[in-house]
Amino acid sequence: MNVNDTEIASSILEQHDYEIVNDIDDANIVFLMTCAIRENAENKVWAKLYDLDKAKRMGQLRKYGLLGCMAERLKAKIVEQLPSIDVVAGPDSYRHLPKLLAINSLHGQSAINVLLSLDETYADIIPRNQSKHSAFVSITRGCNNMCSYCIVPFTRGRERSRSIDSILKEVENKIDSGVKEIILLGQNVNSYRDYSVHNLSNDEDKNQTLNELQSPLADGFQTLYRSKPGGAGFDQLLRQVAGLDPNVRIRFTSPHPKDFNDSVLRVIADHPNIAKGLHLPVQSGSNFVLERMRRGYTRDAYLQLVKRIRHYIPNCGLSSDFICGFCDETDDDHRQTVDIIQNVGYYIAYIFAYSMRDKTYAYHHLNDNVPQSIKIQRLIELNQVYRQLSTEMNRQLIGQRQLILVEGVSKKSPQQLYGRNEANQKVIIPKLSNVNYMIGDFLDVEIIDFTPVTLMARPIRRTSITEFYTSKQ
Ligand code: 5AD
Ligand code: SF4
Repeated sequence: MNVNDTEIASSILEQHDYEIVNDIDDANIVFLMTCAIRENAENKVWAKLYDLDKAKRMGQLRKYGLLGCMAERLKAKIVEQLPSIDVVAGPDSYRHLPKLLAINSLHGQSAINVLLSLDETYADIIPRNQSKHSAFVSITRGCNNMCSYCIVPFTRGRERSRSIDSILKEVENKIDSGVKEIILLGQNVNSYRDYSVHNLSNDEDKNQTLNELQSPLADGFQTLYRSKPGGAGFDQLLRQVAGLDPNVRIRFTSPHPKDFNDSVLRVIADHPNIAKGLHLPVQSGSNFVLERMRRGYTRDAYLQLVKRIRHYIPNCGLSSDFICGFCDETDDDHRQTVDIIQNVGYYIAYIFAYSMRDKTYAYHHLNDNVPQSIKIQRLIELNQVYRQLSTEMNRQLIGQRQLILVEGVSKKSPQQLYGRNEANQKVIIPKLSNVNYMIGDFLDVEIIDFTPVTLMARPIRRTSITEFYTSKQ
């Protein structure tokens, strides 16, 4: 999300004749794009802000500013701490950056805009792509879910979707410029709904049951807010995006389990170019905790969804987010999270210790009463259980042929490249091999080794999505 917001803000500044540089030492103005979801992330930003403040005082920098969720959360408080900051702009204010910079130059004071919008989607802004081969395309902004621990609805505002037409146009442009992978983005990406579309645009959509059309939610899931019926949902968008070019891989993040209705699952199953790796954030395996988190599902509904996913997409890799040490979480609740990890088997898990955020329901009504030491202990245990299982799952992949998109040079060794498979796992390959390939190519590889979180592979041949799947049949 931060990468895409940076691309949008950079594009706006570039349109106003600011030059974007790659090296911070070459910059006159530095903006930090920020997240406020956990306290940890914010602490790191504070340290960077003080560095920028020092650089400005020493004359190495003309201006600096804070963008994104942390700007939205702290608003004028930032200026109290750092009076020399030049610009503070929330996630819906990037269009105003040139104006804020001008006001700051004129008055020599911090310029702030943290207004949230009901309709800003930056639909007309073409993000300044950071990668040549993979492009983020934002389809929704904001979130209405109000999970009780989460600050996002307060920092990024109400949920809104871009029109299908503007999304398709942007995806087409990216494909024309040679992009091999499109990542559809949104805080709650699969609750996408374009209300300007009233008709079912495609015959296949008529296969949807009346029930799916009236209630787009997956069975057994609820929302705190009342969802508006009608319009075109994520299934229709996904089908149209995937139909543009069968040799461009489609991913999306970050979804909510409630919006994986059967129709969405069928679209994913039907298209070889939609990556068969789904993020299915469960957060906790305990019904007591899930209820307090206001997630809108029970453990059983989640497990039923996992079953439905495996029914429609048998080879689908799953990943998830977990929070440990949420308010009143007991050892038994924690055991149930351990159990759900063992039950489902995730290739990738993001595990966080609960950090209380102001404005949230939990901040006002619940007690952050699990000691930090226990939170960390539980975090370590969840990590161990996840890694034990992912190790076993990765072992089963040895000898398997997989399709990867080569994305870049490995951080660990310049002699190695890495790509990602369908499940979004990192796959390491040697830079030099009998097969001639480059970053941005699809490769048919054989998995030869593994760690708990990475796979190692032997390149077999350069390929395309259609070729790979035709030859597998
Ligand atoms: N504390 C810890 N983790 C959190 N997340 C969101 N809010 C918090 C919080 N207050 C995690 C959730 C979410 C991921 C993006 O961040 O697991 O899915
Ligand atoms: Fe936060 Fe819940 Fe919205 Fe995700 S779905 S952004 S966890 S409120």
